[in-house]
Amino acid sequence: MASEEIDINKVRAETPGTKHGAHLLACGSALTSSPVLDAVTDYLRLESEVGGYEVAQDQVEMLDGVYDSVAKLIGAQANEIALLENATAAWCMAFYSTSFKPGDRILTCEAEYGANYVAFLQRAERDGIEIDVIPSGSNGAIDLDALETMIDERVKMIAITWIPTNGGLINPAKEVGAIARRHGIAYLLDACQAIGQMPVDVADLGCDFLSATGRKFLRGPRGTGFLYVKTERLETMEPVMIDHFSADWVEPDRYVLRPDARRFENWENAYALRAGLGVAVDYATDLGLEVIQERAFGLATYLRGELNNLPGTTVRDLGSQQCAIVTWTSDDMEPQATVKKLRSNGVTIGASGPNSTLLDSRRRNLPVMFRAAPHYFNTEDEIDCLISALANEIHQSQT
Ligand SMILES: Cc1ncc(COP(=O)(O)O)c(C=O)c1O
Repeated sequence: MASEEIDINKVRAETPGTKHGAHLLACGSALTSSPVLDAVTDYLRLESEVGGYEVAQDQVEMLDGVYDSVAKLIGAQANEIALLENATAAWCMAFYSTSFKPGDRILTCEAEYGANYVAFLQRAERDGIEIDVIPSGSNGAIDLDALETMIDERVKMIAITWIPTNGGLINPAKEVGAIARRHGIAYLLDACQAIGQMPVDVADLGCDFLSATGRKFLRGPRGTGFLYVKTERLETMEPVMIDHFSADWVEPDRYVLRPDARRFENWENAYALRAGLGVAVDYATDLGLEVIQERAFGLATYLRGELNNLPGTTVRDLGSQQCAIVTWTSDDMEPQATVKKLRSNGVTIGASGPNSTLLDSRRRNLPVMFRAAPHYFNTEDEIDCLISALANEIHQSQT
């Protein structure tokens, strides 16, 4: 595939992992680039040389700049960003800091991520909220007409997953946002799998909260993530837990919350990883999210096409326009054992179990599936390697 805009040789040269095989699992934890690796290791080295507190003082501008980078990536302001250790922590901060009363309703989607759904269940049990699932239309994406009809004065939040953990589906996050705005309902968007593979603009999406991770399509270090909180929401939201970073202890009997989204953070942090996250975000921004999307989606389309030619193989992706996550099942191979075998032959993909998206898995009667996600630094040759490895496994299982 020719990409006029991404210098594939350059990005591959800056991705040391490409020398060790075909890593086709950006939706799991993508290969980091050498600038990210350098940022993390350089920062750690400084900590070892002059001390952690001292480096944080010396590097305060760079560390503050990470908020600017993330804000720029999603069209937000730096004061609307909290840096957290993963997407789940970010999502939970928004969800658990929102108060509900018994009978309040939350609308979610069939592709909702397991971590989010168990949190709904906990609050249903604890706080008496009702969870209602927006049905999917014929293409598998959220049915917007159905969503409209479900709204009443008891609906206090729409919380959906934009791109599920295990498939090509892209839910209509912007259209959902328009409905949420029109009805004045809080909108919490899980953008964990969208961030880094396509443009994300919070104003366009109309969301109040957006959670995301660093290690997937953004190619940041593990243990990084962030939460966006719209300024208007910040003014009225009390974090579910606070410490003396999120709130100033101003009198023996009184505290004052920080004015910005950092009220959802706490005092101690992995600054080396933050340094890496900042570099990963800038790397993606510099390449351009449109061209990243074009190339990653294009490679995924190529992969789906090749999978369709393999015997006994069924691609399971939903949606009209499909993203860079590809899932499939095979009549001849068990995913977990095959993934292990492929990895020992230098091809990395994954397996995804029904519990990550239980509603969708039950509805479609899905077993454990194969999961892969090419990113812009991958090549068609690497996909060909995957396909011939799979064809080989199928052949062996049949003889
Ligand atoms: C859709 C979705 N949301 C949330 C998460 C959780 O992200 P993290 O592991 O960074 O908390 C994942 C992880 O796979 C995911 O796929």
